[in-house]
Amino acid sequence: MARQLVIGNWKMHGSVGQVRTVLPELVRAELGSNIAICVAYPYLALAKSLLSESAIQLGAQDVCEFHIGAYTGEVSPAMLADVGCELVIVGHSERRRYFNETSEMAARKVKAALDGGLLPVYCVGETQAQRDAGIARDVIAEELQVLAGVPTSLYAVAYEPSWAVGTGVIATPEQIAEMHAFIKQTLDTRTRVLYGGSVKADNAAQVLATDGVDGVLVGGAALSAAEFLKICSQA
Ligand code: G3H
Repeated sequence: MARQLVIGNWKMHGSVGQVRTVLPELVRAELGSNIAICVAYPYLALAKSLLSESAIQLGAQDVCEFHIGAYTGEVSPAMLADVGCELVIVGHSERRRYFNETSEMAARKVKAALDGGLLPVYCVGETQAQRDAGIARDVIAEELQVLAGVPTSLYAVAYEPSWAVGTGVIATPEQIAEMHAFIKQTLDTRTRVLYGGSVKADNAAQVLATDGVDGVLVGGAALSAAEFLKICSQA
């Protein structure tokens, strides 16, 4: 069983066919409960049925901050739990960048997810410009500030510098160790902190061996069963 948490985020990729091909391969590998897959909303129920004999957890990529009502296009925490989700990614940099999601909105989603019995995986990270300007820590501190008062045992944090997301440019072990230490020091040393950003089969071992890394959030490399299994085997 993986010691560290490995979460695959399919983003807006995949199809019924791909879910039906990849997930059974993961199930056959008997990965254990520290592995999760987050597919797009339309595939969650199918994914749950395919994972039913497995310890692999199912996650969503976003959630509504409201619990019920006339919110066309939204999906509530209870709906996610109802189809078998155990966790949800919140505040991903792509939601911040393309959908104007703020930390305040993400914090409301974290709280709604907790009320709905889900584990929120709250994403933080700086842009290249912010890193170049020497304000990466300030950005992260501000993004974390909105979670003040929420017990850190109830959620995980994903450190995903946006310059490393989908770019093939991974943060160095020094950069990862420094920021994970900063996040833990800011919140609580026991906070689970995952790294995300261009994690692949051939660099996962180094990331997972880095100080303060409690797991990885994998995007593109999670779409291939073979590659994702190699990452999981190193956790
Ligand atoms: O949620 C996953 C992250 O955004 C990382 O994506 O592995 O494709 O860089 P990536």
